[in-house]
Amino acid sequence: MCGIVGYIGSDYAKEKVIDGLRRLEYRGYDSAGIAMPVSGAIQITKAVGELKNLEAKISDPAFDAPVAIGHTRWATHGKPTELNAHPHGNMDNSIAIVHNGIIENYQELREWLAEEYGIKFKSETDSEVIAHLIGLYYDGDLLDAVNKAVEEMRGAYAVAAMAAAEPDKIVAVRKDAPLVVGAGNGFNMIASDVPALLKYTRDVYFIENNETVVLTKDSVVIYDENGNEVQRDIQAVEWKADAADKAEYDHFMLKEIHEQPKVIQETLLNRLNPDDSIKLDDISMTKEDIDNFNKIYIIACGTAYHAGLVGKMVIEKMTKIPVEIDVASEFRYRDTFIDDKTLFIAISQSGETLDTLAALRDAKDRGARILSVVNAVGSSIARESHDVFYTLAGPEVAVASTKAYTTQLICMYLIGLYMGSTKGTIDKEYYDFMLKELKDLPGKVDRILLSEEKYKKLAERYHFNDHVFFIGRGLDSGVSYEGSLKLKEISYIHSFAIAAGELKHGTIALMDKDSLVVALATQDRLYEKMVSNIVEVQARGAHIIGLAKEGKTEIEKTSDEVIYIPQCADEVAPVLAVIPLQIFAYYVALEKGCNIDKPKNLAKSVTVE
Ligand code: G6P
Repeated sequence: MCGIVGYIGSDYAKEKVIDGLRRLEYRGYDSAGIAMPVSGAIQITKAVGELKNLEAKISDPAFDAPVAIGHTRWATHGKPTELNAHPHGNMDNSIAIVHNGIIENYQELREWLAEEYGIKFKSETDSEVIAHLIGLYYDGDLLDAVNKAVEEMRGAYAVAAMAAAEPDKIVAVRKDAPLVVGAGNGFNMIASDVPALLKYTRDVYFIENNETVVLTKDSVVIYDENGNEVQRDIQAVEWKADAADKAEYDHFMLKEIHEQPKVIQETLLNRLNPDDSIKLDDISMTKEDIDNFNKIYIIACGTAYHAGLVGKMVIEKMTKIPVEIDVASEFRYRDTFIDDKTLFIAISQSGETLDTLAALRDAKDRGARILSVVNAVGSSIARESHDVFYTLAGPEVAVASTKAYTTQLICMYLIGLYMGSTKGTIDKEYYDFMLKELKDLPGKVDRILLSEEKYKKLAERYHFNDHVFFIGRGLDSGVSYEGSLKLKEISYIHSFAIAAGELKHGTIALMDKDSLVVALATQDRLYEKMVSNIVEVQARGAHIIGLAKEGKTEIEKTSDEVIYIPQCADEVAPVLAVIPLQIFAYYVALEKGCNIDKPKNLAKSVTVE
């Protein structure tokens, strides 16, 4: 999704803005632009494609200014062209804006502005109306003009604006799109996400919905929707500046895969008291609350939804409460049974996914208790939930999620164990056993990572396959979906996941000697059934990569290759099984020369419906 970065200080703003935009690249973009006041007018420069194209256009020192707003655009309304790229100016470029989100009534506004005021539009975007609206209301006070413009706008937006006549300030406003201010000494910044700021400051103000903020180089003033000044504490972000760097790895994805032992350990150990009881951050869920729940909905999108597939089975087993899982974009439009006996669990890495956020708001309005599992501290989903449980994964930059997924799984186990032990649906023996299994995971993931070379070889051998199927039963079916998603999103190979028992009801018709089947068989209870399913596809000539626990060698008879994961309880096997699949996808994409960290057509944070 689009990224916004603004800087106001005493020295060259363009470098900071470009650097910040580069750190938001993971959100996905197809064009970029920057606006800065130069010699009394606003200079807007844009370029299609990578940021370096924009950089080349502004390399001349004449473009230096102490204030700038920049943007990376991910096309929604209008093609990725220079004209459609942000910033957008009003007719005489005395106002410039950058926008993330969608203005739903932009057609209406465009017609009104054109008919009533003769405004000529330069782009096909919804965003351009914002610049003209602010221009229309501007009378020497940018804050006032932004406030008046916002009254006309419907939809979701984070907007940063500047005026040629007031080059000493940036005014920004948000509704349903993220915006964060970075506070520095003699400078201030604004951005869509924290990583854009980390190189310069770790002191941030999270801007809330319907708030407006005025930045000068020495001040940050936040106003609520009624224009009253809001006192907000600075929050120190603990992420290290280099957390968003690639270090010695060629890609963020590989770095993030390798960070998993550490982040799993952090997500887990920070939640255990010395007596091994679980502390769920600030979650205040009492036995009475838990006894009151008669159903749980887990709602998420993409990889987070796949973590929810595992979460459903684990939490249901541990709490004996029925758990339903759905993707947010479907859930929102269903007739669901939400009331004050419902626990609604939202899972989201970014904490900004619009569909998940909208589903959460609807559930909250209908009385559900909202617990979110989120990675981005202070994000919208985190702020709007009753309780937040953070995956302590650190910034995840690669579009394809890896460490966020495995830490989301850890949170699912911890929530299940906490609720089950509080409710009395699991006994001490099972609790202790599961805790030991969880504590052993970082070491086991480390061991799997030692076999990276083997998964790389498999990728070299199989990257020519045009169709790859992932099959599994029980928890393995959830991991199959994630393995398949990883492969398709970064290597663009057509891949398909299905519960293995369902194969014979249609999908097996596709199996032939050109098919590659990745068969997950980590669940002891279902192992034999899985082996039978593998035999079925083998009989159709498919190539098979089996995945099983060490010692379960029966699978070798029916597979061309076998990946073994360390012995573990069935419940935690997803955390181990997914690692070889992530690495396999990574090396297949590498073999195919794909843009691994920024796959085509995909965005890290999806803040549109
Ligand atoms: C996008 C990303 C996925 C992610 C999904 C949900 O599609 O490309 O990697 O899983 O959004 O995002 P969230 O931030 O809510 O976990």
